[in-house]
Amino acid sequence: MSPLSSLLRRSAPSDAEASQVASARTDPSAESPSAGSPSAEAPPRGGLVEIRGVHKSFGELEVLRGIDLAIAPGEVTAVLGPSGSGKSTLLRAINHLEPVSSGLISVDGEVIGYRRIGDRLHELREPEVLRQRTAIGMVFQSFNLFAHMTALENITEAPRRALGAPRREAEAHARELLALVGLSEKADAYPRQLSGGQQQRVAIARALALRPKVLLFDEPTSALDPELVEEVLAVIRSLARAGTTLVIVTHEISFARDVADTVVFMDQGRIVEQGPPAKVIDAPAHERTRTFLQRVRTGAAPASEDPAGSADPAADPAPGARTPPPTTPRTTPEDRS
Ligand SMILES: Nc1ncnc2c1ncn2[C@@H]1O[C@H](COP(=O)(O)OP(=O)(O)O)[C@@H](O)[C@H]1O
Ligand SMILES: [Mg+2]
Repeated sequence: MSPLSSLLRRSAPSDAEASQVASARTDPSAESPSAGSPSAEAPPRGGLVEIRGVHKSFGELEVLRGIDLAIAPGEVTAVLGPSGSGKSTLLRAINHLEPVSSGLISVDGEVIGYRRIGDRLHELREPEVLRQRTAIGMVFQSFNLFAHMTALENITEAPRRALGAPRREAEAHARELLALVGLSEKADAYPRQLSGGQQQRVAIARALALRPKVLLFDEPTSALDPELVEEVLAVIRSLARAGTTLVIVTHEISFARDVADTVVFMDQGRIVEQGPPAKVIDAPAHERTRTFLQRVRTGAAPASEDPAGSADPAADPAPGARTPPPTTPRTTPEDRS
């Protein structure tokens, strides 16, 4: 097994629902332990994601209109589609940041947001949703790092608070993750001291810190200067090879072709077509897919069609609103909605 594989291995879930470390800030005096030796146990397991008959409306506006999608463990799915087609809403539904109006989403058979009792579904209470969410990491377009924490602290925060991980252990893992994203020397840097590409790589490391079964990326390179895009894509490529289930909303068509097992093209709340890149990207069956790809390739569609950091609260979470990211079980009013 590769070191990367063992790094991402999902450990047995800790019972510690853990708040005793909520306010514990790290003690910088302690020597950082050397990286724990990767053990050669079970390979990393990506989760199986099943999305069935999912509809989502905001008031009168039906944003998801019957989504069916199965994502095999360890598979990489790239989601393409024009602005407003429901891509972000779908990602947010997967980790229950956006409760669906009807339909079901499950990860490894566990229904997200609900408990099945007999043939009825009961909505989970928040702590249970937060527990589920630790298995589903999310990386946003706008990084959303804690500005007042170093890279290392950003990464250790969730494992320590959510899982009650001992500091030394959390830091050792964080340093391994920083090495994984090529930022070993930036452990003590604050976000403002990092480039956009570096910040996004820290955000990826942070999402990995809870050893998620599924990692969701919402246009992870759209906010980056063009010369910084590749360093982030390279990290995502390495994850793709390591067996974590990845769902990536992106406008980087050649990247999608390169990395994805399945490409999904969405328009107006529906999946228009899905299949291997050789089919959907190179020989699309639908006119709408062809038109979209043409627009992206000719630059008619901007790299990011979403108004990053715009006033649209749905487009991207404002810092503070949904930060820390949904991998971290922090309570926000929005999460409760
Ligand atoms: N919380 C919300 N409240 C109202 N409308 C929303 C909300 N979130 C998203 N929308 C709307 O849903 C549609 C799909 O949005 P989104 O999923 O962000 O699309 P995409 O990511 O494909 O650009 C858009 O019309 C958007 O304005
Ligand atoms: Mg979006």
